[in-house]
Amino acid sequence: MRVLVSGGAGFIGSHTVVQLVAAGHDVVVVDSFANSKRSVVARIEALTGRPVELHAFDLTDRDKTERLFGEEALDAVIHFAGYKAVGESVERPVDYYENNLGTTFSLLRAMSRHGVSTMVFSSSATVYGADPPVPMQEDLPTSATNPYGWTKVMQEQIFRDAAVADPSLRIALLRYFNPVGAHPSGTMGEDPSGIPNNLMPFIAQVAVGRRERLGVFGNDYPTVDGTGVRDYIHVEDLAAGHIAALHRLTQTDEPVSVWNLGTGQGTSVLELLHAFERACGHELPYEVLPRRAGDIAESYADPSRAHAELGWRAVKTIDDMCRDTWRWQSQNPEGYPE
Ligand code: UFG
Repeated sequence: MRVLVSGGAGFIGSHTVVQLVAAGHDVVVVDSFANSKRSVVARIEALTGRPVELHAFDLTDRDKTERLFGEEALDAVIHFAGYKAVGESVERPVDYYENNLGTTFSLLRAMSRHGVSTMVFSSSATVYGADPPVPMQEDLPTSATNPYGWTKVMQEQIFRDAAVADPSLRIALLRYFNPVGAHPSGTMGEDPSGIPNNLMPFIAQVAVGRRERLGVFGNDYPTVDGTGVRDYIHVEDLAAGHIAALHRLTQTDEPVSVWNLGTGQGTSVLELLHAFERACGHELPYEVLPRRAGDIAESYADPSRAHAELGWRAVKTIDDMCRDTWRWQSQNPEGYPE
């Protein structure tokens, strides 16, 4: 298939592009580089041995999106592009709604005009809302606790409504749990700008000496050791989930399919920290801080639907995730070059 990957220079997008090429697909990347660096593209090319077909613009621009679909004979879209920082979304809600919904509107309009009916969408376990029962199953009701989360809930609804109006659409809503890890080569990984919001990149920056110590947000949750429990999934497993979903969409009569992409295993903040200490070979300092507003005690997937319907399951362990993250971070202490 000829696949448009929006946000293909981002963390999950870049790993998925490499796997799509390896699976024999033609890939076209569109990225605004709002939250990624151009040097990612050369890293993708080094891994695939092929040039990346790149369009550098913001998908909220409907005319440019329309022109892109006119130039490229696309069969499918994998839509990663979006703002994703929870705290920032509380500060700048209008930017989040405008960007995350605007990109989706542009894509859906262009898909409809050019007869592209297959879409794999980056959703998030955040759509399970404030206090979902674990393990989380796809048929739980959706809601959100912050503007970022609402953009995901709303995009899911927009896709569902679009699929009612246009029965040719085949859409996968992939609900990610906590993506971590890096390409096993050490040449691609997560490169957040500024102070990392998320646990794994923060730990990796402590390990490489860029941050003094980890702040653990609360140790009085009703969990194994009092710290928050999450379902960390290796980005390589996550990327493989996208390829499996894309293939499934070509064989299904369901207009909209929802799949959790997680391991089903919960890991606490301190368990992840200690696993990373094993990977990097030294102790990592931490201090316990108050709980972070909006955090829940435990989040992990019931991934059985993806296994049954996609034949996909996550295979990489927490130690694999820490080892690959450490390889990436130690080889690229400041992330990607400009
Ligand atoms: N944590 C710390 N210290 C840090 C960062 C995080 O103790 O410096 C803790 C959090 O309190 C939480 C756990 O580590 O218990 C994981 O936090 P992350 O920020 O890495 O991940 P979240 O589960 O909070 O958020 C992720 C995604 C969001 C998504 C959400 C729900 O980043 O996009 O899962 O699916 F909305």
